Amino acid sequence: MTEVSKKQGAKYILASILFAGFVVLLIPSCVHEPLITPIDNPVDTTGNPVDTTGNPVDISTGTPCDPNVVYFTKDILPLFISTCAKSGCHDANSHREGIVMDNFQNVIGSRIIKTNDANNSKLIKTIKATGGEERMPPSPAQRFTTDQIALISKWINQGAKDLTCDENAGQCVTTNVSYAGFVAPLLSTYCVGCHSGGAPSGGVSLSTYAQVKAMATSGRLYGSIAWSTGFKTMPKGSAKLSQCSINKIKGWIDEGANNN
Ligand code: HEC
Repeated sequence: MTEVSKKQGAKYILASILFAGFVVLLIPSCVHEPLITPIDNPVDTTGNPVDTTGNPVDISTGTPCDPNVVYFTKDILPLFISTCAKSGCHDANSHREGIVMDNFQNVIGSRIIKTNDANNSKLIKTIKATGGEERMPPSPAQRFTTDQIALISKWINQGAKDLTCDENAGQCVTTNVSYAGFVAPLLSTYCVGCHSGGAPSGGVSLSTYAQVKAMATSGRLYGSIAWSTGFKTMPKGSAKLSQCSINKIKGWIDEGANNN
């Protein structure tokens, strides 16, 4: 073979390889995913299946939340937003002591957390302090509860990560919702930091059952979390609660907003 035809041969082989590769790339786009069988639950206007039968309904297929794992966005950030990231304290504008508690990056960047070592983290020391200069949040704001401090510690000891899960995954049971078991802990995480104390936000206090019941019966509790027209959108400055949580609160209200 001459030099020239060798070169041409090499070119031909290269072109064939490229062409074969191109064909392989095309194949997956021609294969269709099997069509998902439609869910036979009724569907509301937002696209979420609605429970009209009282039976549990699957409203999403994302990664379900593992009850043993602490998730930053779901479990921890709402506590920081309603208690720490406030104007004059640790929101982005005020950044007292260089500490900003409004998102994951800023919390980690504030250098008050020692990963995997809650007891030696400045954050835990200050929220455990019951008085003096160190105490956070300062009096008269309501301190975090023992359970909340334990949860924040657990998050730090699990590596202070930004893990996420889908709260709508799996079954959303909207009947027999318990005040003590579901409603009160949810409000305590997402709302009570702002809606408690001597000067609760918007004049709305949500720290006792009687106060929550009054808000529930007036329609303001549901209106604010469902972001219904004419209501302020709550939790203020944060993402909407998960659709499952909103449906459960609605279920609890519809069944009489009992102290169950
Ligand atoms: C960061 C502070 C903050 C958080 C967290 C927060 N709120 Fe509010 N809330 C406010 C303020 C401030 C107002 C007064 C209205 C306004 O300025 O938007 C208010 C008003 C309200 C009102 C009256 C709204 C109306 O239109 O009648 C209700 C009800 C309410 N909040 C419920 C909640 C619930 C429930 C949560 C938790 C899911 C929550 N809030 C979380 C600050 C907060």
